[in-house]
Amino acid sequence: MSSAPVRWGRPLDTLVASLRYLALASPDPHQTADFYARAMGYRLQPCGAAIIARGPERHLIFLEGPARSLVSAGFAVPDRDELERLKDRIRNAGAMFHEVASVLLADAIETVDPDGNRLVFGVAQDNPDGGPVADGMPARLQHVVVASRDPEKIVRFFIDALGFTLSDDVVDSEGGVRTSFLRCSDEHHSFAVFKAAQDRLDHHCYETTDWNMIRDWGDHMASEHIAIQWGPGRHGPGNNLFLFVHDPDGNWVEISAELETVAHDRPVGKWPHEQRTLNSWGQGLLRS
Ligand SMILES: [Fe+2]
Repeated sequence: MSSAPVRWGRPLDTLVASLRYLALASPDPHQTADFYARAMGYRLQPCGAAIIARGPERHLIFLEGPARSLVSAGFAVPDRDELERLKDRIRNAGAMFHEVASVLLADAIETVDPDGNRLVFGVAQDNPDGGPVADGMPARLQHVVVASRDPEKIVRFFIDALGFTLSDDVVDSEGGVRTSFLRCSDEHHSFAVFKAAQDRLDHHCYETTDWNMIRDWGDHMASEHIAIQWGPGRHGPGNNLFLFVHDPDGNWVEISAELETVAHDRPVGKWPHEQRTLNSWGQGLLRS
């Protein structure tokens, strides 16, 4: 158990952050952005070569590129002190960062993980460029998950260079780690990595308020003729209720509720690599 000073429920030597936006590549960014406008209630705004999608507590940016690829993930830190601590941590780990312009984060920096995923961190600010603010059903952009041929390297980078904390591992019968869930707040995970045959985006997730809102999102998807592809169910790690839909590029999109909150000194959990871990209510979706 750690006796280190704690702020925002986290020891000083760990990161405090929340997922602010994702930039996704798509072969047809207009078509994909239109899907997200229908599915998730985003309002779209062209911004140079990109399309910015805005919703309450959720932002996506679409750029032309290969399907199922993450251009970057943007995380908001609470203040400049937290950003300086992160810069020190990245330097001390021997990693690199550079300053980057962001329409959604102030004083932003970008670093790159061992698979080339670009990670942007900056100070949270509300509607900094005065773009349209959408209202709509609650679904806060909450986590992003990647697949990797070498997840161990990614996990080490997220812990050592960024200050994430390992919440749970999913372990196969030979003791190999198949999935790792990492947190940067008291929420069970804001990032996870699956072992797979390719390095790619796996899915992103929106946290809504409760089980009734999972029902309302399901009804909303039905009204838009968008089929639920997996769920509703309940994950083992994180204990969250979920449903998944597909976007036109084949990305999984998750809506979740009741995600576990975790004490800062809670030991790392270990889960068996089996369908029940992925969905205690029924069929799982094993990546490998
Ligand atoms: Fe998820």
